[in-house]
Amino acid sequence: MLERVAVVTGASQGLGLAIAEKFVSDGTKVAFISRNLDKVKSRFAEEQQRNQVMFMNLDVSEYEAIQRCVTDIMNKWGRIDILVNNAGLRTETAIEDITVDEWNKVLSVNVGGTFFFSQAVLPIMKEQKWGRIINMSSFGGQVGPLTSSAVYSASKAGQLALTKSFARALAPYGITVNAVAPASVRTPEMDKMSPESLEKMTQMIPVGRVGEAIEVAELVAYLVSDYGGFVTGATFDINGGRLMR
Ligand SMILES: NC(=O)c1ccc[n+]([C@@H]2O[C@H](COP(=O)([O-])OP(=O)(O)OC[C@H]3O[C@@H](n4cnc5c(N)ncnc54)[C@H](O)[C@@H]3O)[C@@H](O)[C@H]2O)c1
Repeated sequence: MLERVAVVTGASQGLGLAIAEKFVSDGTKVAFISRNLDKVKSRFAEEQQRNQVMFMNLDVSEYEAIQRCVTDIMNKWGRIDILVNNAGLRTETAIEDITVDEWNKVLSVNVGGTFFFSQAVLPIMKEQKWGRIINMSSFGGQVGPLTSSAVYSASKAGQLALTKSFARALAPYGITVNAVAPASVRTPEMDKMSPESLEKMTQMIPVGRVGEAIEVAELVAYLVSDYGGFVTGATFDINGGRLMR
């Protein structure tokens, strides 16, 4: 059976780590991408020995680093089937206080990283006539920010537009491109919240609890499977019912 190769950005913690772990347990080869993967590496020592995983520290807002990364994966494994653009930078700065630096940084990581990573794998997926791209957007990109900044919200809405642009252009090549829009899914950041803030947040969620990263990973696993071939250009809400449309 063909061994798929997946690239997951922002795979050092949270949703990216859960998605990468799910892929590994399904037998997919996985390139973990993040700014610092030291803590994660030791958990996958056995898989690394078996040549099932690789780890690359890089900043997804750096164009040259993306090109080197894709070349390294191709040299090692010879194909790229799945790309999950999950790395994200979230800020909470008020509109009046957003600087040009913050504006550029958030957009270059969230939208630029998504665009240029997808652009870099395109020729490979086209040649293979099979590919799956997932863009990790957000509830904030759909309804506007609640606690996040306007620039974060704009960047997440930008990912939704990119999803449709790439989906339309790539549909004839067996490549699907979809967005996942989570809200209130447990991450290390959430574990630092006070019980009162967590309770306040939970009250706004119709299912009455926060989400778990594995629930997002299972959704992504379906979308990147062979059964996902008829689903493209779509946005999947995973938010406990906070947004119903
Ligand atoms: N957890 C949620 O409920 C939620 C809600 C909405 C959207 N999201 C989105 O899901 C994605 C993952 O969220 P999370 O909650 O796991 O976040 P997180 O902050 O726990 O993890 C983000 C990951 O991205 C990496 N990263 C950040 N900037 C990077 C860069 N420039 N280059 C490479 N890696 C970088 C971090 O190192 C980390 O591994 C993000 O895009 C986020 O916007 C999450």
